[in-house]
Amino acid sequence: MTVRPEQLRSHQWYGTEGLRAFSHRARTRQLGYLPDEHLGKPVIAILNTWSDINPCHVHLRERAQAVKRGVWQAGGFPLEFPVATLSETFQKPTPMLYRNLLAMETEELLRSYPVDGAVLLGGCDKSTPALVMGAASADLPTVFVPAGPMLPGHWRAEVLGSGTDMWKYWDDKRAGLIGDCELAELEQGLARSPGHCMTMGTASTLTAAAEALGVTLPGASSIPAVDSGHDRMAAASGLRIVELVRQDLRLSRILTAEAYEDAVATVLALGGSTNAVIHLIAMAGRSGVRLTLDDFDRIARAVPVLANLRPGGRYLMEDFHFAGGLPGFLSRLSDVLHLDRPTVAYDTLREQLAGALVHNDDVIRPRSRPLAGEGGVAVLRGNLCPDGAVIKHIAASPHLLEHTGPAMVFDDYRTLQRTIDDPALALTRDHVLVLRNAGPKGGPGMPEYGMLPIPGYLLKQGVRDMVRISDARMSGTSYGTCVLHIAPESYVGGPLALVRTGDSITLDVASRSLQLNVPDGELEKRRSAWTAPPVRYERGYGVLYGEQITQADTGCDFAFLAGPGKAADPYAG
Ligand code: FES
Ligand code: MG
Repeated sequence: MTVRPEQLRSHQWYGTEGLRAFSHRARTRQLGYLPDEHLGKPVIAILNTWSDINPCHVHLRERAQAVKRGVWQAGGFPLEFPVATLSETFQKPTPMLYRNLLAMETEELLRSYPVDGAVLLGGCDKSTPALVMGAASADLPTVFVPAGPMLPGHWRAEVLGSGTDMWKYWDDKRAGLIGDCELAELEQGLARSPGHCMTMGTASTLTAAAEALGVTLPGASSIPAVDSGHDRMAAASGLRIVELVRQDLRLSRILTAEAYEDAVATVLALGGSTNAVIHLIAMAGRSGVRLTLDDFDRIARAVPVLANLRPGGRYLMEDFHFAGGLPGFLSRLSDVLHLDRPTVAYDTLREQLAGALVHNDDVIRPRSRPLAGEGGVAVLRGNLCPDGAVIKHIAASPHLLEHTGPAMVFDDYRTLQRTIDDPALALTRDHVLVLRNAGPKGGPGMPEYGMLPIPGYLLKQGVRDMVRISDARMSGTSYGTCVLHIAPESYVGGPLALVRTGDSITLDVASRSLQLNVPDGELEKRRSAWTAPPVRYERGYGVLYGEQITQADTGCDFAFLAGPGKAADPYAG
């Protein structure tokens, strides 16, 4: 179908006879536009998460200009909307607290303004799910422009991955292997250009998921942020969105159950971040698609890990890009993908992947030589996590995947930080470190505390990994035998709240189990003695958050935002 100008949503604002439309036209003259520049043209909102504080998005101000260039060329009318920036590095306690706020802002801006189609600019961790969640609820034609990875880091002869190598060298410093001089040099080289983290961390995982879902142009997600190709991709996205509006190809046609299954297969085969589990469940919920933890475990058993990228593997996103990027990668998974579904660029994923090639078999492995035989994430069950928990077993130590040890419990992260290095705790390599009150509600915001630090005195003995369990998340650039996302969380009285130091805990990844070896009767006794912790917020956004946030296994969306449903369309007259 071809949408005629008077069928555009924005026509209600600009094109009708009444006083209001007259006022909207007069105010557009005030903006400096001629009638011919916008009347009857698709209005494209460019939602930009650029900010001076966000190093991952600092180039997006210029990229918005490239998008506009494309929109104008195609006969559309671009308007840029600044939206909240979620900087993984700077925003405390964690941008996860604000993912749903950006999703709300995205949805409501698109609904309340004269917008026919949207281009979304973002990429730092939570930005991608937030923008896609909001846009899915608004359900206009939409293209996502991923921010792109930063250039590889360098230090002396080493190539550095942001995040991953920060953790590694910080541990080296704590173990006394490097000093302040080395650290000062590392500070210069870890992150050397605009763009999001260039390992297969949360940002790269989620932008790849967006591309696999079909909401970006093909190959968009791995283009380095500062590559000229990134500008060209932004301009091409501007050209494309106008066409999508003319075809009335809304996001709901793209974000189908099949698309979400393919996105899950993609992130698992990438060995991507555990955060993707939460975000994809939440994104799917906005599309009316029920995605569960069990879907992840089922699909993980069917797909191998083919991307040799840090933190699980060796290379960085720039290598992945030149090895063929996501089109090349997906061409090696085509037997598990749904190839007949549409994307924003092609009628079918099959057409989109036609001609896609892999140029480096060590970066993107052939099926005969996977990095791991199964997808990177396993879902655990047991009396400690009745609603599930996850572990990125490809980033864990093989000798700890089946382990029983005594618990050492920390009630919150500050206590942990303060006491972990105290030799009086007498921790051994066999201990299971337990952190609680770090979940969605208790964190609050489920901070990325899940890679609990190893005690300094054990580091010095050469211990680099221990079993660690929590209701927190873990950075996508982290690694180690860390059980995450325990649901329900301890703050709301999940069984994690009942663990005591010295209790025996068994992790058995092969049988997908996490058990607290304490008799049920004893747990019941502890439960009746348990009292809920004090509320975190008495005013402000935190109150809404505390009332509405759902648990990790259902995606941590706000209950009133999850799922499709009717929202009144504004009357523009
Ligand atoms: Fe923005 Fe890592 S800090 S992606
Ligand atoms: Mg991160």
